Amino acid sequence: MAGRIPQNFIDDLIGRSDIVEVINSRVSLKRKGKEFSACCPFHNEKTPSFTVSEAKQFYYCFGCHAKGNVIGFLMDYEHLSYIDAIESLAADAHVDVPHEDSGFTNKNQEDKQPYYNILKQASELFQQELKTSERAIEYLKQRGLSGEIAKQFKIGYAPDGWSFLSDRLGTSNENLNSLIKTGLVVNKENDKTYDRFRDRIIFPITDQRGRIIGFGGRILDKGEPKYLNSPENAVFHKGYELYGLYETKQALRQIDRIIVVEGYMDVVALAQSDINYAVASLGTATTTDQIQKTFRTTHEIVFCYDGDNAGKKAAWRALENTLTVIRDGMIAKFLFLPEKEDPDTMVRKEGKEAFERRIINATTLSDFLFDKLKSEVDLATNEGKAQLANKANKLIQKMHNSLFKDLLIEELSTLVGLSQQHLESKISSASQEKRKHAQTTKPIRGQQVQNNKTRIAIALLLQNPDLANQHKVPDTFQDAFTKGLPLLYELQKTIETNTQLTAAALLERFRDSEHEKAFNILSVLQTPETENTDNINEVYKNLIERLHYEDRDEYFSHKLENNVSLTAEEKKEYLAHCMK
Ligand code: UTP
Ligand code: MN
Repeated sequence: MAGRIPQNFIDDLIGRSDIVEVINSRVSLKRKGKEFSACCPFHNEKTPSFTVSEAKQFYYCFGCHAKGNVIGFLMDYEHLSYIDAIESLAADAHVDVPHEDSGFTNKNQEDKQPYYNILKQASELFQQELKTSERAIEYLKQRGLSGEIAKQFKIGYAPDGWSFLSDRLGTSNENLNSLIKTGLVVNKENDKTYDRFRDRIIFPITDQRGRIIGFGGRILDKGEPKYLNSPENAVFHKGYELYGLYETKQALRQIDRIIVVEGYMDVVALAQSDINYAVASLGTATTTDQIQKTFRTTHEIVFCYDGDNAGKKAAWRALENTLTVIRDGMIAKFLFLPEKEDPDTMVRKEGKEAFERRIINATTLSDFLFDKLKSEVDLATNEGKAQLANKANKLIQKMHNSLFKDLLIEELSTLVGLSQQHLESKISSASQEKRKHAQTTKPIRGQQVQNNKTRIAIALLLQNPDLANQHKVPDTFQDAFTKGLPLLYELQKTIETNTQLTAAALLERFRDSEHEKAFNILSVLQTPETENTDNINEVYKNLIERLHYEDRDEYFSHKLENNVSLTAEEKKEYLAHCMK
């Protein structure tokens, strides 16, 4: 994705923007010494622990540990995608975002516009048709929906007949092609065409920006299939989109939680009862992409499925997918409705308050996880305990490191009577094994940052990129013995080739790389070295020299211990090294 917009444009944009200004226009900041502070917009608090550094162009919250640069802030605060955050920043700076003109990504993008246009026009026609169809209006009324909600969700009606859309919109070859490509019109073998949606209530599906990308159509009477959906196409990807997410964001400024339901009608019926924070996965299991996307918008997801077996299965799939994406500060819960009920019937039966009580009292992820596993084994026996430990380990392994993960291990430990240490070693050795398989060809050495001095050096350089222009790291760091030094070298080279990079832009360079997480942490690391800005040059220089010395020391010891002879040049270096 990032490749579409030239990197130097992004560097420049970040360099020109001021994070203090951007944040201050959304969250009122107070100056506090060198920094600015406010109550954190990402978690509830009474005393301010959210700080913005003007010098570093980063924000950091000491309470919930939210952190990042101006792009990250816009993404999290405004619920924007990466590209949209850049667009928004560019709009503030009154510049246009250039797109690289070679390569097909851009061509692809241009090609999509006619699809968005035709989908929008189709939706408008369907909405008009609804106004004139007594039968469709009657159906929606009988399902408890008001005209207002129908309007909010742009609900429409596709009239009976084979060529309603193609007659009105398929007036040129180009338009007809767009109708076919978006699946609104089906192309038969002998080049005859017919409308996909006939005599159905139409639910438009929108993307994050509110563009219509597809439709779901419900039959009015009984019949098969009950719902017909747009097929996957250039603008519609089922596993990635959520019905109702855009409408939720439109309805609420602050989204404390989102409930994930199964059906279009569930989302709409909940909104009718003033529960404006439901989304539906589109007739498929909820994917990790969808969960990640939802967690970008809120910190709590309540999965709500029917009380039948299929619902339980869907919930378990959602749990497995959630484990791979959940991080501290995110909450996932599960709400099981009584058999034969769905959110639509339930909320209409008992009303908003009772339904919201169910939401509040939903089962926590850890209860659902352990209750399910416990029900599958006999915990009174050692065999059963081992089975449970194995099953739970398999799930916990998928998780990112977090306090939540630690707590699950703790609970497991109490359940099966094995020490946490024992369980943790099993879990980490299994995930290391997996990692090894995944990267047999990649060198492990030098990739992880462990040594504390190295961490500090990287932190200093990340926070003060100009240091790279003052003290070059030695070339031996490139494939050094000591972990982290090759990374320092990479950083040095990146800065050398882009001398104007600000700290925030530098961090942006490593988004989506394997180092993103480490860099995010190091970019806000506070140590005596990073805080003492008066002689930062000196500190960095000494640190690099020390790291170089220690690394060479280890290198020579290793060679000598293994009786590997030194080259003539190395011998000279070794002598000098010993004199230091
Ligand atoms: P449900 O059958 O639970 O739908 O399917 P519902 O929302 O309760 O429907 P109503 O209340 O009878 O109107 C849940 C979801 O599964 C997909 C749709 O996305 C639907 O909203 N589905 C269902 C299909 O795609 N096709 C079908 O034939 C049925
Ligand atoms: Mn239903």
